[in-house]
Amino acid sequence: MKEPHLAALKCPQCGKKLQFSRESASNESVEEGQIVCEKGHTWPIHGEIPSLVYPPISAKDAKWIKKYDEMAESYDESVKQYDDWLGINMMKEREQLAMFVPIEGPTRIIDVSIGTAANFVALHNRFKGQMGRFNIHGMDLSTRMLGMAKRKMSELGIDASLTHGSVFNIPYQSNFFDIVLHTGGINTFSDIHGALKEMLRIARSEGMVLVIDEGLSPRMRNTEKGKEIIKANSLFAARPPLEFLPEKASNVEITYIMNETFYQMVFKK
Ligand SMILES: C[S@@+](CC[C@H](N)C(=O)[O-])C[C@H]1O[C@@H](n2cnc3c(N)ncnc32)[C@H](O)[C@@H]1O
Ligand SMILES: [Zn+2]
Repeated sequence: MKEPHLAALKCPQCGKKLQFSRESASNESVEEGQIVCEKGHTWPIHGEIPSLVYPPISAKDAKWIKKYDEMAESYDESVKQYDDWLGINMMKEREQLAMFVPIEGPTRIIDVSIGTAANFVALHNRFKGQMGRFNIHGMDLSTRMLGMAKRKMSELGIDASLTHGSVFNIPYQSNFFDIVLHTGGINTFSDIHGALKEMLRIARSEGMVLVIDEGLSPRMRNTEKGKEIIKANSLFAARPPLEFLPEKASNVEITYIMNETFYQMVFKK
């Protein structure tokens, strides 16, 4: 991990700034080492990824993370099953995220719960040689998912900063990102309001938060196909979590994407 990555982070225990510990200080990227806050809280770095998880995760979340760790290797393959079943091309649909990205200028983007980095691969496909203007970060609570994201992005030459952290206490500075992106986890989070509040906190003023997850459109849920989908996978019965939006969220917009099988909730700070 490099200095600009560090500057975007904060201590998840006390909120103070972080620096590399003396032994880890270097002009190069730090592969293994430690970072420390002004109050002396220390956090490990493994394989260039700082681990800033605090407080320890709840038993319910730990159960999900164990599942994600176990499925990390096969995750991309299993998600592909959605394509035929729902009549979509998920990777192509992810490229549509580009419409929320300013057409020029430096842009800070974080993918909260980055998984295997499919959204950044899609952005890379879309923006090709322009990726250099993006300062991109990915955070996840599953170290195996982060490992997959790292491998895929290095194969494609995508330069992103990866952080091990939880959506309930995101170890990033407030008011930092132009775009905060989250796809695919919120429906099963134990504290949806807490997660959305944290996503809005790290967005800059006028910044945008995009939250996408399984959930059929009102029209789709009344069709035969819709009923069949919900019967096969109850996650698709979910609705956009409007009741959990933070008070400060503005310009809230709900649309349905991927053949009306996923909701897309967008709001501003
Ligand atoms: C269904 S996957 C979606 C991955 C990716 N965003 C995508 O669209 O393919 C859900 C992700 O949420 C992550 N996750 C679950 N609980 C989390 C938490 N409390 N904080 C951060 N990430 C979490 C999982 O590790 C997993 O990578
Ligand atoms: Zn601290």
